Amino acid sequence: MARHLKIAAAQLGPLHKADSRAAAVKRLLNLLREAHSMGAKFVVFPELAFTTFFPRWWMEDQAEVDHRYFEATMPSAETRPLFDEAKRLGIGFYIGYAELTPQGQRFNTAILVGPDGSIVGKYRKVHLPGHADHKPKAAFQHLEKKYFEVGDLGFRVWRYLGAITGMLICNDRRWPEAFRVLALQGAEIVALGFNTPSENLHYPEPPALRVHHHLIMAQSMAFQNATWLIETAKAGYEDGFRMFGHSVIVAPTGEIAAKSQTEERGNLPQLRHRPRGESEEHHVQFRRAPASRALPADRRADRGGSDARERLMELELASLPHKERYKLLIGLVIPRPIGWVSTWNENGVANCAPFSFFNCISEDPPLCILSFNNRTDGAMKHSLKNIHRTGEYVVNLVDESTANAMHISSYEIPETESEFAKTGLTPVPGVRVKHPRIGEAAAAFECKIERSIKFGPERELVIGEILHLHAREGIVDPVTKRVSEEHYRPIGRLFGNRYCTTRQRFELPGTLPHGQDS
Ligand SMILES: Cc1cc2nc3c(=O)[nH]c(=O)nc-3n(C[C@H](O)[C@H](O)[C@H](O)COP(=O)(O)O)c2cc1C
Repeated sequence: MARHLKIAAAQLGPLHKADSRAAAVKRLLNLLREAHSMGAKFVVFPELAFTTFFPRWWMEDQAEVDHRYFEATMPSAETRPLFDEAKRLGIGFYIGYAELTPQGQRFNTAILVGPDGSIVGKYRKVHLPGHADHKPKAAFQHLEKKYFEVGDLGFRVWRYLGAITGMLICNDRRWPEAFRVLALQGAEIVALGFNTPSENLHYPEPPALRVHHHLIMAQSMAFQNATWLIETAKAGYEDGFRMFGHSVIVAPTGEIAAKSQTEERGNLPQLRHRPRGESEEHHVQFRRAPASRALPADRRADRGGSDARERLMELELASLPHKERYKLLIGLVIPRPIGWVSTWNENGVANCAPFSFFNCISEDPPLCILSFNNRTDGAMKHSLKNIHRTGEYVVNLVDESTANAMHISSYEIPETESEFAKTGLTPVPGVRVKHPRIGEAAAAFECKIERSIKFGPERELVIGEILHLHAREGIVDPVTKRVSEEHYRPIGRLFGNRYCTTRQRFELPGTLPHGQDS
């Protein structure tokens, strides 16, 4: 009988030296809630998740190191909110931290916390990488051998959330015997947190090769030991030192069931354009495993059946950050048609831009809708400004021959410059409205505002009455008014720079695919 357990790998963004433990806990709480909103029952956090990866720094004042980075009690007043919230949500977690024992020993430790908030199991890292001496000429230190003792608890498994679960930490993943000992105890799940620098301290190694090794190790260890493997990273630049991320969930088949964004996509220029929302910089990766990769039948015990409802992801949109709601909606409602709005501005500069919150909603009267948000500087979009000024506009429809020009016309440019000029499009005067249509477009609707409605802080819906329609010859049968499937080859929007024809998906700007009609 297959059993189902939803597991989230809660990849954490950088924690700098200046970041407080309380700030880290706040971020971990957000990730926990996000994972819970996705239906996860077990969340795997990274290694040393409450602080920066401090072994990269040579520090001589051990009392100060203990105070800033080690946990003498778990939970403490500062870390307890995570345990309380997990209990409230009924969700278990794995988390790594620097442990200071009452006897004065220091370990790189991970714990399994049950959904009742109690600590179920503890593991102390065995394979400590790096060095114990100061390397002043090195770009950074890797002083795990200075700050920690070798773990003394062995490799154990626990019966946890209905599955036999083992724990490892970071560098342990490179050592087959660690997995083998867990597998021989029947491990079905191995949870592992890590902080891996993009650079090898000891010799030059391309970051891509390091990621390659990370992934083949994960896949081969999971496959050879017939276990699910959840490896969760701390990613990004901590005080300027890069860690490669790449959290991954691997099935016992060795297949990657889920993987975080690549190192490249987590880099600084990308982050600069993102809102500072926690979920953007510190995202949870969670996907349901395909049914064929559900947990194998329990090898030890006769367990109950599964509930089909558990396989659904449940999300309260109101509790999600704005950017995530947007991603969900535009990712699910696809493909969307594209309304390519053309207008003159008050100084006679021809403007055009695509809008895929667009559709037609009525034929009597003939109505179409567009929804606008603001430009990145917070100002009103030029198209909307021109629509408001005149009460009129043209919506052009995009086909394969105009796809690239449409995409390029979406770039934000000053009002004094024309997207028509930039893309070589021709403004053709309207028949019923003051604005131009795009001469090259497959079809165009000349519209006047029927009404406009504002939603939230920056959304405005414009409902337009279509006064006049232009269509390129061949697209509409003059007698039957049927639209020709053969001659009309529209483009739909997916998300980002992803689009589709009515046959295939592709990216713009670029070359359109020449797929088979279906
Ligand atoms: C395919 C596509 C669809 C878009 N859909 C919308 C949309 O529905 N609403 C919106 O406000 N912006 C949308 N945009 C962004 C605008 O096209 C972009 O902000 C553009 O610079 C606006 O130009 P303007 O200020 O000249 O009106 C979309 C962009 C692309 C590439």
